Parts: sequence; C-alpha cells; structure tokens
Amino acid sequence: MRDYRQEFPDFTPTIYLDCAYQGPFPRVTIARIGQAIELKCHPERLGESDYFDRPERVRKRLAGLVGASPSEIALTNSATQGLGIVASGLGFEEGDEVVISSSNFPSNLFSWLHLRRLGVRVHVVRPECGQVRVEDVAAAMTPRTRVLALDWISYTTGARIDLRALGELAHRRGSLFVVDGTQGVGAIEINLHDLPVDVLAAAAYKWLLGPYGAGFVYLAEKVQDRLDLNVVNWLSVEGSDDFDALPMDQFTLPKHARVFDVPETANFLNLQALEASLEFIQQVGVQTVNGHCTQLLDPLAKELTRLGYTVTRATDPGFQSTILGFHSGSLEATTALHRKLRASNVAVSLRQGMVRVSPYLYNGGADIDRLLEVVRP
Ligand SMILES: Cc1ncc(COP(=O)(O)O)c(C=O)c1O
Repeated sequence: MRDYRQEFPDFTPTIYLDCAYQGPFPRVTIARIGQAIELKCHPERLGESDYFDRPERVRKRLAGLVGASPSEIALTNSATQGLGIVASGLGFEEGDEVVISSSNFPSNLFSWLHLRRLGVRVHVVRPECGQVRVEDVAAAMTPRTRVLALDWISYTTGARIDLRALGELAHRRGSLFVVDGTQGVGAIEINLHDLPVDVLAAAAYKWLLGPYGAGFVYLAEKVQDRLDLNVVNWLSVEGSDDFDALPMDQFTLPKHARVFDVPETANFLNLQALEASLEFIQQVGVQTVNGHCTQLLDPLAKELTRLGYTVTRATDPGFQSTILGFHSGSLEATTALHRKLRASNVAVSLRQGMVRVSPYLYNGGADIDRLLEVVRP
C-alpha cells in the first residue's frame, strides 16, 4: 500500500486523527495556494478566464465526485449556505411542515428551525443510539411535510443513514429529501443520480481537504425550478463574461445551478486550493480513502470494545463511515479520557459525550496503536 504521509505536512509530535474536524491541505494544495497569492500580488496577470474557467472546473470535479451534472452544482461558502438556499427559496407558508433529526449538525437544524417564525411546524426525530430509523421518520411525516432534512453521516457517532430508504419514503410522501453530506463526501463514494436525493449540501474543509469557507450544494434540476432566487450574483447572469459590455437594465438568468453560487465565486485563494485538493482526492480515489480508513478503524473498534468502551461503529459496512465514536459510560470519565488523549498529543474531538476518531490517508497502524496505548486502563 502506498504511503501517503509524505503527501501531507508533518504533524509531529501530534498524531492527527481528526479529519472530521478539519482536513489538512495536502502538499500539492499548499503549492497551488502560492500561485493564488501570486495572482493577487500581480493583478495584471489575472485574466477574465480566472473568473469563469476555474469555478467551472471545480464545479465539474465536484459533480464527478458525487455523480451529478455540473449544471446541478452551486459553489457555496459552507454547508449552511447550501441549506439556506433551499430553506429560504422554497416559499414556506404557515402550516407547512419539515422533519429533521436531533442528530443533525446545527447547519441542518437551525436552517429549518428558523422557519418557525413563518408558522412552519418543524418535527424533530430523536434517534436512539444515533441511528435514524426509517419507521421513526415515517411516523413524524404528515401530508404537510415539504422537506425531510438529514445528515448523511452523523458528526458525532459516524452512523450513516440509509439514503435510499429515507429518500424513497420522502418521495412517497410528496416531500423533498435534503441531505447534509459534509462528513461523507470525499471519504465515501456516492452517486446522486442513482439515489432519491434532491439536495445535498457540504462544506469542503473536512473530507474534501478544502479551505475553510468553501463548499457546494447539489440541486437536482427539478428542485432548481422550485427555488426562488433571493440574491442575484451578477457574475452568473448571461453575458457577464463580457466585461466591456456588461448587461445593464435587463438581465437573463441561465437555467443552471450556478445562479445560486456564492457571489465572488472565483475567490482565488479558496478555489485554487479546493481545485488542487479535489485533483488530489480524485487521483487517489475515494474508494482508496475509504479502504484506508476502514483498515484503521476496524481493528480500533474491536480493541476498544474488548477494553470495555462503548463504540459507535455499525457492523454492516453499508452503514459505516470514516468516523468512529466511543465513550466510557460516564461523561466525566469520557471527558477525562479526551483530555488525556490531547495531553498525549493524540488529536481527536469530544462531541456530545463521545470521543470522535476520524483518520485519513496520512495515518497508519502506529497511530491507532498510540491511541490505544493512551486509553488502555
Ligand atoms: C455534518 C456537518 N455539516 C456541516 C458542518 C459545517 O457546516 P458549515 O459549513 O455550515 O459551517 C459540519 C462541521 O462540523 C458538520 O459536521
């Protein structure tokens, strides 16, 4: 197996097992940012293509990564922005309903809870042991449910939901299925055209190894037609690429998700970095990322269980992810364990009473052994 550690900065003395928190830049991305800085230092070298071609290349790469068409991808600055495009664009009215899960990350909670101000009823499903069950969601849905919004991968337990079953349920009930894919895209293969998913929003700063402040949202064509556009990005209108003769009192919007792009889409520093990281991931392959993480997490889950910890990792590989959570029964003990790990230079997160471990290509078996050494009673 190829050793990927050389492709990343050296974390010594830290053992970094927290990609679900921030994915670091690979070395190729760091080099590419140097080029972006050059462009800003020398604006005379900026071409009109820098405003249009790069966003389109990034859009194409993202579409390829998730099995969508480029015309269904809007470039955003966060998962929140992607979800907000839908929450604010669907024209919710008093009496409409939305179903969410308490296990969602706040981006996928507050975007919907905020609709309560309009008289929208938001039902919150509370999954036991972090697993969102189809029957619980079905029970929360009514004929007024317009959106079912769930996280693909739980940011705490790493549990993966059944996108097909939940999406089919949503569609049977006449609802849209909106997914936050932040903790999965880049680490787990996905083919959106083969799934009943209408919207998928993601931040790029974790498993896409992108900069903080970049993301995307997949908007299925039929959803775009239903969305009201709240902010017009002048660079997305027809003819905006002709800087000498920009449209003035009339403008035409293309039939394309790019109309929902974050303004100043071509943000050089962010997009150059994201493009380089996407190239890296696609060269390595999402399957390789997943396989590598699985090889590290499987024995870790086994050993933690043997040591008496409660581990959140599905046994069925179809529901596993590249995140594992574990706790030791009491919140105090788990918090102390997390402190001990940090003090021992093992970087993991504490989330909702659980120690969260999320390795990546730069980790090896020795890193897992070190973690186990620290948590062994
Ligand atoms: C599931 C999930 N969604 C979204 C985010 C980040 O959201 P945003 O890009 O809106 O800041 C996180 C961050 O931890 C997350 O875990």
